[in-house]
Order: sequence, then C-alpha cells, then structure tokens
Amino acid sequence: MLEKDNTKVYVNGEFFLKKEASISVFDRGFLFSDSVYEVTAVIEGKLVDWQEHFARLVRSLDHLDIVNNFNEEDFYKIQKKLINQNELKEGLCYIQITRGFGERDFNFGNKSFLPTVVMFTQEKSILNNPATKAGIKIITVPDDRWKRRDIKTTQLLAQSIAKSSAVQKGLDDSLLVQDGFINEGSSSNAFIIKDDHIYTPSLSNFILGGITRSTVIEFCKTKNIQIKEQKIHVDDVMHAQEVFLTSATGFVIPVIEIDGRPVGNGSVGDKVKEIQEIYLEQIKSKLS
Ligand code: PDD
Repeated sequence: MLEKDNTKVYVNGEFFLKKEASISVFDRGFLFSDSVYEVTAVIEGKLVDWQEHFARLVRSLDHLDIVNNFNEEDFYKIQKKLINQNELKEGLCYIQITRGFGERDFNFGNKSFLPTVVMFTQEKSILNNPATKAGIKIITVPDDRWKRRDIKTTQLLAQSIAKSSAVQKGLDDSLLVQDGFINEGSSSNAFIIKDDHIYTPSLSNFILGGITRSTVIEFCKTKNIQIKEQKIHVDDVMHAQEVFLTSATGFVIPVIEIDGRPVGNGSVGDKVKEIQEIYLEQIKSKLS
C-alpha cells in the first residue's frame, strides 16, 4: 500500500491525490444527503460481488430519479484502476453518486443535474479481522432512520449515532429495533439461530437488502442449510443460541453479547463458524 497521502481519489472522470480531491459546497450530496453509495470489499486485490453491488447502485439511483448514464464496464474499469493505483490488496472500494450541484433548493423538480461521482479506496483487514474469531458485543437501540432504508443513501446520521453510542459504552455496535422487532445492525444485516433454525429479517423498506446477506443465504442453500426470512422479535434475539451480522466489510461477524447478556454460552458458536467457512470457501468464485 502506498503512503496514505499518495492514494488517489476519483472525482468526475479524473484521479486526484487524496488531499486535492474536492467537490462543490453546493453539491446536493453535501447539502441534502441527496446521494447514494456502495461499499465493495476488496480481497487479494479483487472486488467481491462486484456485479451485485453495481446492480444495487443502479436500483438506488433509479429509486431517487438521479440521472443514471453509468455503464457497468466503465465503472468496473475505473474501480480496478483505482485499486491498482492505490496498490490495495485488502479493504474496500467506496462509490458515491450525488444528484449533482446547484443553488440550494429543497425542490430538485425538473431541473437537469449532472451527477457527481466520487470513488476512493480504504485499506482494512477483512479476512484477519479479530472480530471474526472473537465475536463482538452489541446493544439494542431504537431505529431512528427514515423509512426507505432499502435505498442505499448517504443519510447515515442515525446509524453513525447508533454505532458511536455503542463504542462510547466500550462495546462494538448496535442492533436497530422498531416496535419490538429487530431490523438490522448499524451497517450490517442480522441473523439469529434459535431452536436450531437460522432466521434473518425479511426484505422490506425497513432494511437494506445486503449483498452479503443474500450471498450467505445462497451459499448456505448449496449446503442444504435453510435460512428463514421473517420478522424477528427482540425477545427471540435475547434467547438465541447464536447471533451474527453480515456486511461487505465484515463478511460474517459473530455476536457474543447483547445488552450485557451473553448470547448462548457467550462464545462464538459452531454454526456461525460453519457459515464463515462456507462463505470464505465460496466467495473466491465471486472475485473480479
Ligand atoms: N454498509 N444494512 C446497512 C444499514 C448497511 O449500511 C449495510 C452495509 C448492510 C450490509 O450490506 P452489504 O452486505 O451489502 O454490505 C446492511 C456498508 C458496509 C457501509 O455503509 O460501510
């Protein structure tokens, strides 16, 4: 990896040094969080589940009527160029697309905007992340977000507060709860194992349809492990044998404590270890 200050950031067709990359203060992404994003893991210098991430990016743009003239192949090439230039072996590639910039106005109406596109990489240990083996401790917090959580927008303040409040208590993360049912982690999807069945909240506008979530479900099917998608009451989480969270930057992370109470016997369970193995073994076929 190059010295941090030498890493490049892509902005609207050009590559800049990190400290020289900038966008307009009138950008609607900055003023209104009028923008969408994707985070794709990089391992062995390759993108994980790239096509699925691009498809979700297109869906997010379409939901918000942000101009979408982006071509999959061009996007892929830019990301690969960035990863190569930054000599990134393991970490993540971030893409953000905003509606564009203009005079501050709540009404974006029929005005034609030219979207702003930003991409950067971050070095991060994913495969040897200590949390993968040791598990994490979390708290439950109310889900204070807007109701279109299925769109991957950059409105992340509620998630940022949820995560920070856990870290301030010396813990790792938060699980977002609404009307007694769990939605997801602050930046991850949630799974529980109870009475030897695996459950995850079903897809709806209340959660983000995680790429890792669907890959885990798909990979488990190939091993005849069924995962049921349904509403999960917080009481079921508190009495689960095992709990785990999935995301592009964590893959499969075991949870060993919730609200000060141990999950199962308080150590990483066998089923989650098996799912981690299945995920790592099969994800190799989805690198590009
Ligand atoms: N976040 N739910 C939320 C609210 C998320 O922010 C994320 C990912 C996920 C998991 O989605 P995926 O498996 O596609 O990464 C679920 C990313 C990692 C982030 O914001 O950094």
